[in-house]
Amino acid sequence: MQTHLRGRDMITTQEWTRDEIDTILDVAIDLKRRRALGEEHALLRDKVLAMLFFFSSTRTRASFEAGMAQLGGHAQFIESKTTQIAHGDTATEIGEILGRYNDGIAIRQVDWDLGNRYIRDVAAASRVPVLNMQCDWYHPFQALADLLTIVEKRGDLSGLTVNVSWAYAASYQKPLSVPQSLILLLTRYGIDVRLTHPPEFKLQPEILEQAEANAEQSGGSLALGNDFDAGFEGADVVYPKSWGCMLTTPDPEESADIGARYKDWIADERRLSSASASAGYMHCLPADRGVEVTDAVIDGPNSWVFDEAENRLHVQKAVMALTM
Ligand code: CP
Repeated sequence: MQTHLRGRDMITTQEWTRDEIDTILDVAIDLKRRRALGEEHALLRDKVLAMLFFFSSTRTRASFEAGMAQLGGHAQFIESKTTQIAHGDTATEIGEILGRYNDGIAIRQVDWDLGNRYIRDVAAASRVPVLNMQCDWYHPFQALADLLTIVEKRGDLSGLTVNVSWAYAASYQKPLSVPQSLILLLTRYGIDVRLTHPPEFKLQPEILEQAEANAEQSGGSLALGNDFDAGFEGADVVYPKSWGCMLTTPDPEESADIGARYKDWIADERRLSSASASAGYMHCLPADRGVEVTDAVIDGPNSWVFDEAENRLHVQKAVMALTM
């Protein structure tokens, strides 16, 4: 267990050692147990987290805000469009100023080719930890919650096969951040990770290189495929979700048109039945029901989505308690 994490940013799990990530999981499990028992755990009394959102959220906002209250502190919700950012407040000014009012700054900025840069610029100017609530490249707290969920359901992770797959959705061109953070984190735990997507829906090459290096070090693997059905076959965990083809075209309409060629990429009972008998179905949510996944799968006995969503709360509390 690592005990010197105060002041650290969480922008990507890739910047945390395996020992440090194990510490987050240990603390998350402890805080989850303490909440279940009704034990007080006001570890951040009088501390304040600024939550700056440039994009909508259900789970991220609700879980960070609830988590800060349960830790004895407060979270202030700041929607970018209600601020003076559009009138000139720079990322450096946001880091300097919110860092002086608060004990942590959490940011969601998912605009392609901007979000990660913005969060890094705020972090460079901030005297307090900066927490990435999702950018264009990474969604570290989602991946941590997903890892915790797989640990709880499966225990020993080495040799497990997890299929991180693209699926069709019509609602909007979702960021690359969830699949990228997943393949980066799961490959550090000896997991055999499959990454399945149509050719146009590539992830960033540098992320693939990092994930391959992680797998080599951990004894896991990263296998790339373009066959939706084959991704499910024999998998222990399936994680089919949509993302945009930002690396093929920057135009969201063209990306939507390309995605529409793959409307048959829907997680359904036939495909799930080809996975291992007790395979878990995971999705970060929100899901396009009836498009990305059938009701029978997302509401079925193999679905882990509510435990997964709950674990956002516990891993975020752990990181806040350790860093703030
Ligand atoms: N999974 C996730 O980040 O959910 P929200 O977009 O609702 O926060």
